[in-house]
Amino acid sequence: MSGGTGHARTVPAAQGTAAAAARRARKIDPTVSDSLNASEVPQPADHAHGQPGRHPSHVPGVSVRHTRAKGEPRFPDGPKADPAGAHFERRIRSFQPRRSRVTAGQADALQRLWSRWGLDIDGHETLDLADLFGNTNPVVLEIGFGMGEATVQMAAADPGTNILAVDVHTPGQGNLLNLAEQEGLTNVRVANGDAIILLHEMLRPDALDGLRVFFPDPWPKKRHHKRRLIQPEFLDLAATRIRPGGIVHCATDWEPYAEQMLDVLNAHPEFENTQPGGGFAPRPDFRPLTRFEAQGLEKGHVVNDLLFRRVQHHNQPLTGA
Ligand SMILES: C[S@@+](CC[C@H](N)C(=O)[O-])C[C@H]1O[C@@H](n2cnc3c(N)ncnc32)[C@H](O)[C@@H]1O
Repeated sequence: MSGGTGHARTVPAAQGTAAAAARRARKIDPTVSDSLNASEVPQPADHAHGQPGRHPSHVPGVSVRHTRAKGEPRFPDGPKADPAGAHFERRIRSFQPRRSRVTAGQADALQRLWSRWGLDIDGHETLDLADLFGNTNPVVLEIGFGMGEATVQMAAADPGTNILAVDVHTPGQGNLLNLAEQEGLTNVRVANGDAIILLHEMLRPDALDGLRVFFPDPWPKKRHHKRRLIQPEFLDLAATRIRPGGIVHCATDWEPYAEQMLDVLNAHPEFENTQPGGGFAPRPDFRPLTRFEAQGLEKGHVVNDLLFRRVQHHNQPLTGA
Protein backbone atom coordinates (compact mmCIF):
# COMPACT_ATOMS: atom_id res chain seq x y z
CA MET A 1 0.00 0.00 0.00
CA SER A 2 1.28 3.41 -0.79
CA GLY A 3 1.35 6.52 1.25
CA GLY A 4 0.01 4.89 4.38
CA THR A 5 3.02 5.40 6.56
CA GLY A 6 2.42 8.99 7.47
CA HIS A 7 6.17 9.73 7.43
CA ALA A 8 6.65 13.29 6.28
CA ARG A 9 9.54 13.60 3.84
CA THR A 10 11.31 16.84 3.19
CA VAL A 11 10.07 18.94 0.31
CA PRO A 12 12.91 19.69 -2.10
CA ALA A 13 13.58 23.37 -2.60
CA ALA A 14 12.50 23.08 -6.24
CA GLN A 15 9.07 22.04 -5.05
CA GLY A 16 8.45 25.32 -3.27
CA THR A 17 7.85 26.20 0.35
CA ALA A 18 6.50 23.93 3.06
CA ALA A 19 3.25 25.89 2.95
CA ALA A 20 2.89 25.27 -0.79
CA ALA A 21 3.57 21.59 -0.26
CA ALA A 22 0.94 21.48 2.45
CA ARG A 23 -1.55 23.15 0.10
CA ARG A 24 -0.80 20.53 -2.56
CA ALA A 25 -1.14 17.74 -0.03
CA ARG A 26 -4.54 19.00 1.11
CA LYS A 27 -5.88 18.53 -2.42
CA ILE A 28 -5.41 14.77 -2.07
CA ASP A 29 -8.45 13.01 -0.72
CA PRO A 30 -6.86 10.62 1.77
CA THR A 31 -9.88 8.37 1.90
CA VAL A 32 -9.74 7.37 -1.72
CA SER A 33 -6.16 7.54 -2.96
CA ASP A 34 -4.31 4.31 -2.59
CA SER A 35 -2.60 1.57 -4.50
CA LEU A 36 -3.42 -2.00 -5.35
CA ASN A 37 -0.17 -3.46 -4.06
CA ALA A 38 1.49 -1.46 -6.78
CA SER A 39 5.20 -1.95 -7.17
CA GLU A 40 7.90 -1.26 -9.71
CA VAL A 41 6.78 -3.80 -12.25
CA PRO A 42 6.62 -3.36 -16.01
CA GLN A 43 3.70 -1.53 -17.59
CA PRO A 44 1.55 -3.55 -19.99
CA ALA A 45 1.37 -0.93 -22.69
CA ASP A 46 1.79 2.67 -23.48
CA HIS A 47 -0.90 2.61 -26.13
CA ALA A 48 -4.45 2.53 -24.91
CA HIS A 49 -3.98 1.30 -21.40
CA GLY A 50 -4.46 4.55 -19.60
CA GLN A 51 -1.41 6.51 -18.66
CA PRO A 52 0.95 4.26 -16.76
CA GLY A 53 3.18 5.78 -14.19
CA ARG A 54 2.39 8.32 -11.56
CA HIS A 55 -0.79 8.37 -9.59
CA PRO A 56 -2.49 11.67 -10.46
CA SER A 57 -2.46 12.80 -6.86
CA HIS A 58 1.19 11.95 -6.30
CA VAL A 59 3.16 14.99 -5.15
CA PRO A 60 6.91 14.44 -5.22
CA GLY A 61 8.44 14.85 -1.83
CA VAL A 62 5.15 14.92 0.03
CA SER A 63 3.77 12.00 1.94
CA VAL A 64 0.12 12.01 2.92
CA ARG A 65 -1.30 10.61 6.10
CA HIS A 66 -4.20 8.32 5.28
CA THR A 67 -7.18 8.06 7.54
CA ARG A 68 -6.80 4.26 7.63
CA ALA A 69 -4.45 2.75 10.14
CA LYS A 70 -1.72 0.54 8.72
CA GLY A 71 -3.10 -2.89 7.90
CA GLU A 72 -6.70 -1.73 8.04
CA PRO A 73 -8.62 -2.86 4.93
CA ARG A 74 -9.31 -0.26 2.31
CA PHE A 75 -12.97 -1.24 2.01
CA PRO A 76 -13.98 -3.21 5.11
CA ASP A 77 -17.14 -4.47 3.39
CA GLY A 78 -15.70 -4.45 -0.13
CA PRO A 79 -13.14 -6.35 -2.18
CA LYS A 80 -9.99 -7.61 -0.53
CA ALA A 81 -6.67 -6.10 -1.59
CA ASP A 82 -5.03 -9.45 -2.20
CA PRO A 83 -7.73 -12.11 -2.10
CA ALA A 84 -5.61 -15.11 -3.08
CA GLY A 85 -2.64 -14.11 -0.93
CA ALA A 86 0.95 -15.10 -1.53
CA HIS A 87 0.12 -18.73 -2.28
CA PHE A 88 -0.49 -17.97 -5.95
CA GLU A 89 1.95 -15.10 -6.30
CA ARG A 90 4.70 -16.83 -8.21
CA ARG A 91 3.02 -17.13 -11.57
CA ILE A 92 3.55 -14.62 -14.34
CA ARG A 93 0.58 -12.30 -14.27
CA SER A 94 -1.21 -10.86 -17.26
CA PHE A 95 -2.17 -7.67 -15.45
CA GLN A 96 -0.42 -4.76 -13.91
CA PRO A 97 -1.16 -4.09 -10.25
CA ARG A 98 -1.64 -0.38 -10.60
CA ARG A 99 -2.18 2.57 -8.40
CA SER A 100 -5.82 3.36 -8.52
CA ARG A 101 -7.85 6.31 -7.43
CA VAL A 102 -11.32 5.31 -6.39
CA THR A 103 -13.99 8.00 -6.57
CA ALA A 104 -16.40 8.54 -3.73
CA GLY A 105 -19.21 7.03 -5.82
CA GLN A 106 -17.16 3.93 -6.61
CA ALA A 107 -16.11 3.57 -2.97
CA ASP A 108 -19.74 3.82 -1.92
CA ALA A 109 -20.75 1.09 -4.39
CA LEU A 110 -17.93 -1.18 -3.24
CA GLN A 111 -18.98 -0.79 0.37
CA ARG A 112 -22.72 -1.13 -0.21
CA LEU A 113 -22.93 -3.73 -2.97
CA TRP A 114 -19.89 -5.97 -2.65
CA SER A 115 -21.48 -8.39 -0.18
CA ARG A 116 -24.39 -8.85 -2.60
CA TRP A 117 -22.76 -8.84 -6.05
CA GLY A 118 -19.04 -9.19 -5.41
CA LEU A 119 -16.76 -12.17 -5.13
CA ASP A 120 -13.14 -12.30 -3.99
CA ILE A 121 -11.01 -14.75 -5.92
CA ASP A 122 -9.29 -16.45 -3.03
CA GLY A 123 -8.85 -19.83 -4.69
CA HIS A 124 -10.35 -21.62 -1.72
CA GLU A 125 -13.75 -22.81 -2.86
CA THR A 126 -15.39 -24.31 -5.90
CA LEU A 127 -18.19 -22.02 -6.99
CA ASP A 128 -21.75 -23.15 -7.44
CA LEU A 129 -22.71 -20.78 -10.23
CA ALA A 130 -26.43 -21.49 -9.93
CA ASP A 131 -26.15 -20.51 -6.29
CA LEU A 132 -24.09 -17.42 -7.12
CA PHE A 133 -26.61 -16.11 -9.66
CA GLY A 134 -29.75 -17.57 -8.13
CA ASN A 135 -30.69 -19.36 -11.36
CA THR A 136 -29.42 -21.94 -13.84
CA ASN A 137 -29.06 -19.59 -16.80
CA PRO A 138 -25.93 -19.88 -18.94
CA VAL A 139 -22.85 -18.18 -17.52
CA VAL A 140 -20.28 -16.28 -19.56
CA LEU A 141 -16.96 -15.26 -18.02
CA GLU A 142 -15.62 -11.84 -19.02
CA ILE A 143 -11.95 -11.40 -18.20
CA GLY A 144 -10.75 -7.80 -17.84
CA PHE A 145 -13.93 -5.70 -17.91
CA GLY A 146 -12.05 -2.46 -17.20
CA MET A 147 -14.66 0.12 -16.18
CA GLY A 148 -17.51 -2.25 -17.04
CA GLU A 149 -19.52 -0.13 -19.50
CA ALA A 150 -19.54 -2.83 -22.18
CA THR A 151 -20.31 -5.51 -19.59
CA VAL A 152 -23.41 -3.68 -18.47
CA GLN A 153 -24.62 -3.08 -22.01
CA MET A 154 -24.25 -6.74 -22.91
CA ALA A 155 -25.90 -7.86 -19.68
CA ALA A 156 -28.85 -5.51 -20.25
CA ALA A 157 -29.25 -6.69 -23.83
CA ASP A 158 -29.28 -10.36 -22.81
CA PRO A 159 -30.88 -10.77 -19.37
CA GLY A 160 -31.10 -14.55 -19.86
CA THR A 161 -27.31 -14.85 -19.72
CA ASN A 162 -25.35 -14.41 -16.52
CA ILE A 163 -22.05 -12.56 -16.72
CA LEU A 164 -19.27 -13.33 -14.30
CA ALA A 165 -17.05 -10.29 -14.80
CA VAL A 166 -13.54 -10.41 -13.41
CA ASP A 167 -10.88 -7.76 -13.03
CA VAL A 168 -8.33 -6.63 -10.49
CA HIS A 169 -9.03 -2.95 -11.07
CA THR A 170 -10.76 -1.57 -7.97
CA PRO A 171 -12.24 1.62 -9.52
CA GLY A 172 -13.67 -0.49 -12.34
CA GLN A 173 -15.24 -2.88 -9.86
CA GLY A 174 -16.95 0.03 -8.12
CA ASN A 175 -18.00 1.53 -11.44
CA LEU A 176 -19.48 -1.74 -12.68
CA LEU A 177 -21.41 -2.24 -9.44
CA ASN A 178 -22.81 1.28 -9.74
CA LEU A 179 -23.80 0.84 -13.39
CA ALA A 180 -25.39 -2.55 -12.74
CA GLU A 181 -27.42 -1.10 -9.89
CA GLN A 182 -28.52 1.89 -11.97
CA GLU A 183 -29.65 -0.47 -14.74
CA GLY A 184 -31.38 -2.78 -12.28
CA LEU A 185 -29.38 -5.76 -13.53
CA THR A 186 -29.47 -9.05 -11.68
CA ASN A 187 -27.32 -11.05 -14.10
CA VAL A 188 -23.88 -9.59 -13.32
CA ARG A 189 -21.45 -10.65 -10.62
CA VAL A 190 -18.14 -8.88 -10.08
CA ALA A 191 -15.10 -10.99 -9.27
CA ASN A 192 -11.96 -9.44 -7.80
CA GLY A 193 -8.61 -11.05 -8.53
CA ASP A 194 -6.74 -13.08 -11.09
CA ALA A 195 -8.95 -14.81 -13.63
CA ILE A 196 -6.43 -17.65 -13.90
CA ILE A 197 -6.96 -18.53 -10.25
CA LEU A 198 -10.71 -18.29 -10.75
CA LEU A 199 -10.56 -20.67 -13.72
CA HIS A 200 -8.09 -23.05 -12.17
CA GLU A 201 -9.22 -23.25 -8.58
CA MET A 202 -12.84 -22.13 -8.41
CA LEU A 203 -14.73 -23.25 -11.51
CA ARG A 204 -15.92 -26.74 -12.27
CA PRO A 205 -15.24 -28.45 -15.61
CA ASP A 206 -17.66 -27.24 -18.31
CA ALA A 207 -19.01 -24.59 -15.92
CA LEU A 208 -18.98 -21.82 -18.53
CA ASP A 209 -21.08 -21.24 -21.60
CA GLY A 210 -18.67 -18.72 -22.99
CA LEU A 211 -15.62 -16.56 -22.46
CA ARG A 212 -15.08 -12.91 -23.40
CA VAL A 213 -11.71 -11.22 -23.47
CA PHE A 214 -12.05 -7.71 -24.86
CA PHE A 215 -8.90 -5.68 -25.39
CA PRO A 216 -6.60 -7.58 -23.05
CA ASP A 217 -3.36 -5.88 -22.10
CA PRO A 218 -1.24 -6.26 -25.25
CA TRP A 219 2.18 -6.31 -23.55
CA PRO A 220 3.85 -5.06 -26.73
CA LYS A 221 7.48 -5.46 -25.67
CA LYS A 222 8.99 -8.78 -26.64
CA ARG A 223 10.28 -9.49 -23.16
CA HIS A 224 6.72 -9.07 -21.84
CA HIS A 225 4.99 -11.30 -24.37
CA LYS A 226 4.95 -14.06 -21.78
CA ARG A 227 2.44 -11.94 -19.85
CA ARG A 228 -0.11 -12.02 -22.63
CA LEU A 229 -3.26 -13.81 -21.58
CA ILE A 230 -4.11 -15.62 -24.79
CA GLN A 231 -1.50 -18.36 -24.98
CA PRO A 232 -1.69 -22.13 -25.50
CA GLU A 233 -1.50 -22.85 -21.73
CA PHE A 234 -4.34 -20.44 -21.01
CA LEU A 235 -6.43 -22.06 -23.73
CA ASP A 236 -5.70 -25.51 -22.27
CA LEU A 237 -7.16 -24.31 -18.98
CA ALA A 238 -10.07 -22.41 -20.55
CA ALA A 239 -11.02 -25.45 -22.63
CA THR A 240 -11.60 -27.46 -19.46
CA ARG A 241 -14.00 -24.86 -18.06
CA ILE A 242 -16.00 -24.01 -21.19
CA ARG A 243 -18.62 -26.53 -22.17
CA PRO A 244 -18.51 -28.02 -25.68
CA GLY A 245 -20.27 -25.61 -28.02
CA GLY A 246 -19.42 -22.60 -25.83
CA ILE A 247 -18.05 -19.51 -27.56
CA VAL A 248 -14.75 -17.76 -26.93
CA HIS A 249 -14.91 -14.14 -28.06
CA CYS A 250 -11.73 -12.07 -28.10
CA ALA A 251 -11.10 -8.62 -29.51
CA THR A 252 -7.97 -6.52 -29.67
CA ASP A 253 -6.68 -3.37 -31.32
CA TRP A 254 -3.09 -4.60 -31.19
CA GLU A 255 -2.49 -6.30 -34.51
CA PRO A 256 0.52 -8.44 -33.59
CA TYR A 257 -1.45 -9.76 -30.62
CA ALA A 258 -4.47 -10.36 -32.86
CA GLU A 259 -2.28 -12.48 -35.14
CA GLN A 260 -0.95 -14.38 -32.13
CA MET A 261 -4.48 -14.98 -30.87
CA LEU A 262 -5.56 -16.24 -34.27
CA ASP A 263 -2.56 -18.57 -34.51
CA VAL A 264 -2.91 -20.13 -31.08
CA LEU A 265 -6.69 -20.45 -31.27
CA ASN A 266 -6.60 -21.96 -34.77
CA ALA A 267 -3.91 -24.39 -33.62
CA HIS A 268 -5.71 -25.47 -30.46
CA PRO A 269 -7.47 -28.83 -30.79
CA GLU A 270 -10.26 -27.86 -28.39
CA PHE A 271 -11.39 -24.78 -30.31
CA GLU A 272 -12.69 -24.29 -33.83
CA ASN A 273 -12.96 -21.04 -35.72
CA THR A 274 -16.54 -19.98 -36.41
CA GLN A 275 -15.26 -18.32 -39.59
CA PRO A 276 -15.16 -20.80 -42.47
CA GLY A 277 -12.03 -19.17 -43.86
CA GLY A 278 -10.21 -19.51 -40.53
CA GLY A 279 -9.70 -15.77 -40.13
CA PHE A 280 -10.94 -12.91 -38.00
CA ALA A 281 -14.68 -12.47 -37.48
CA PRO A 282 -16.58 -9.43 -38.69
CA ARG A 283 -17.26 -7.17 -35.74
CA PRO A 284 -20.46 -8.54 -34.16
CA ASP A 285 -23.31 -6.05 -33.56
CA PHE A 286 -23.74 -7.35 -30.04
CA ARG A 287 -20.28 -6.27 -28.87
CA PRO A 288 -20.47 -2.66 -27.64
CA LEU A 289 -17.63 -0.26 -28.18
CA THR A 290 -15.35 -0.59 -25.17
CA ARG A 291 -13.37 2.16 -23.52
CA PHE A 292 -10.01 0.77 -24.61
CA GLU A 293 -11.30 0.08 -28.08
CA ALA A 294 -12.36 3.72 -28.44
CA GLN A 295 -8.90 4.85 -27.37
CA GLY A 296 -7.30 2.46 -29.85
CA LEU A 297 -9.54 3.64 -32.68
CA GLU A 298 -8.64 7.24 -31.94
CA LYS A 299 -5.03 6.27 -32.51
CA GLY A 300 -5.90 4.67 -35.83
CA HIS A 301 -5.54 1.09 -34.60
CA VAL A 302 -7.29 -1.73 -36.44
CA VAL A 303 -9.67 -3.77 -34.30
CA ASN A 304 -9.99 -7.51 -34.81
CA ASP A 305 -12.61 -9.84 -33.34
CA LEU A 306 -12.11 -13.57 -32.95
CA LEU A 307 -15.00 -15.96 -32.43
CA PHE A 308 -14.15 -19.57 -31.67
CA ARG A 309 -16.26 -22.50 -30.52
CA ARG A 310 -15.25 -25.12 -28.00
CA VAL A 311 -15.09 -28.33 -29.97
CA GLN A 312 -17.77 -30.95 -29.58
CA HIS A 313 -15.97 -34.29 -29.77
CA HIS A 314 -17.71 -37.40 -31.03
CA ASN A 315 -19.39 -39.36 -28.25
CA GLN A 316 -19.07 -36.30 -25.98
CA PRO A 317 -22.49 -35.28 -24.65
CA LEU A 318 -23.49 -31.62 -24.90
CA THR A 319 -23.45 -30.14 -21.44
CA GLY A 320 -24.71 -26.91 -19.94
CA ALA A 321 -27.77 -24.96 -21.05
C1 LIG B 1 -6.62 -3.12 -21.47
S1 LIG B 1 -7.82 -3.32 -20.23
C2 LIG B 1 -9.33 -3.54 -21.17
C3 LIG B 1 -10.56 -3.24 -20.38
C4 LIG B 1 -11.89 -3.38 -21.14
N1 LIG B 1 -12.12 -4.74 -21.60
C5 LIG B 1 -11.98 -2.41 -22.30
O1 LIG B 1 -11.88 -2.87 -23.45
O2 LIG B 1 -12.16 -1.22 -22.06
C6 LIG B 1 -7.47 -4.98 -19.71
C7 LIG B 1 -8.05 -5.29 -18.34
O3 LIG B 1 -7.82 -6.66 -18.07
C8 LIG B 1 -7.52 -6.81 -16.68
N2 LIG B 1 -6.81 -8.09 -16.54
C9 LIG B 1 -5.71 -8.48 -17.20
N3 LIG B 1 -5.35 -9.72 -16.82
C10 LIG B 1 -6.25 -10.12 -15.89
C11 LIG B 1 -6.40 -11.30 -15.11
N4 LIG B 1 -5.55 -12.33 -15.22
N5 LIG B 1 -7.42 -11.37 -14.24
C12 LIG B 1 -8.28 -10.32 -14.12
N6 LIG B 1 -8.20 -9.19 -14.83
C13 LIG B 1 -7.20 -9.08 -15.70
C14 LIG B 1 -6.71 -5.57 -16.36
O4 LIG B 1 -6.75 -5.26 -15.00
C15 LIG B 1 -7.41 -4.51 -17.21
O5 LIG B 1 -8.43 -3.85 -16.48
